[in-house]
Amino acid sequence: MPITHEIFVDLPGRSYNVSVGVDILTDLGRIVASTTGSAGRVVVITDSNVGAIYADTVRGRLSDASGLCDVIEFPAGEEYKNLATYGDVMDRILALETPIDRRSVVVALGGGVVGDLGGFVAATALRGLPFINVPTTLLADVDAAVGGKTGLNAQAGKNLIGAFHQPSAVIIDAAVLETLPADELGNGLAECVKHGVIRDWALLDFIEDNAAKITSCQADTLAELIGRNVAIKAAVVSADERESGERAHLNFGHTIGHAIETAAGYGLLSHGQAVALGMVAAFHIAESRSLIDSSVVERVRKILAELSLPVQFDDLPNSPSDVRDPKCLRRVMSHDKKALGGVVRFVLPTAPGSVAIFDDVTDDQIEAAVAVLG
Ligand code: NAD
Ligand code: GLY
Repeated sequence: MPITHEIFVDLPGRSYNVSVGVDILTDLGRIVASTTGSAGRVVVITDSNVGAIYADTVRGRLSDASGLCDVIEFPAGEEYKNLATYGDVMDRILALETPIDRRSVVVALGGGVVGDLGGFVAATALRGLPFINVPTTLLADVDAAVGGKTGLNAQAGKNLIGAFHQPSAVIIDAAVLETLPADELGNGLAECVKHGVIRDWALLDFIEDNAAKITSCQADTLAELIGRNVAIKAAVVSADERESGERAHLNFGHTIGHAIETAAGYGLLSHGQAVALGMVAAFHIAESRSLIDSSVVERVRKILAELSLPVQFDDLPNSPSDVRDPKCLRRVMSHDKKALGGVVRFVLPTAPGSVAIFDDVTDDQIEAAVAVLG
């Protein structure tokens, strides 16, 4: 099946295409060669789970088209997105038998962890190599792979080390989601709902009408879902690459969501579950400020539930008491790296498909919204 969607990310001097399709990994060599404009040397960075399934195919396709292709694998998991793994991967790249040069291309093959770490390696090896992102999770397809944020977690917090380094191309094959563990899909679905809320209310109709096909990983439907979401992310990033304005809208649901994730302790609930709860809470704050109508809140709750995402704490299999404590969540929020001088900035819905930033949300409003979660 051919590429079904081509989305242009329009950035002065750094524009690129995002290609979406089904089974397009088989054509990866040609797409990479046509993007880089030469049959050059390629280094694939992947993790142990993705590498075990796809490294041989990808190496074969890239070797056929480019000649020289090495694969560097690191252990799968968020806990490896750190300086130690970065140092190890970098040392291995710099020690390759055929040395890399500035024309060598880094291909990141994997989820958001691989894209962030592989992208940061590309940003810093030899002061910057071209980089092609081949995401393999729904979260990476619709969010992490588009926009050029690369980086690592530090001991002091998540994603505190990093660089903006835009890819030269992003190649998304919806068919690879078939092997993704079912729990991982929800992380991407929460971001899809977020995109609908902030920019495209009709996307929520599509999600609602196709919920069964989406959750059962029907590749054509996923390709359509991914294409529509990438178009939204691309438009936001093209308008505000460095997050000085509207890119912050992408944080909708993430303020309380991150606080819930942190208060619970990483690993106890997924990022998508935390963002789903954060979106519901943000909707309740908006409703309490008369920004939107309760019917809009109910619609979003219904869609999240159809996607098996939680809309209240009782939907989680185990939620430690800290996450239900509004004061604890408020404390965590003021330490968030996106809080400016301790002032928590909220992205709130103002109409179906549009949001605005507010820095005057009161502790009472936050506490009331968390209380609604149960
Ligand atoms: P992940 O990369 O850890 O992938 C999730 C799991 O799925 C891993 O175990 C991985 O090995 C496995 N996996 C991936 N693709 C697979 C496939 N097709 N088949 C089988 N297994 C597969 O997690 P993620 O949710 O993709 O990404 C989360 C990361 O993304 C976080 O570190 C987050 O900070 C980052 N992120 C970055 C941005 C950005 O703009 N750069 C945006 C959002 C999130
Ligand atoms: N995931 C938020 C951003 O890319 O800005």
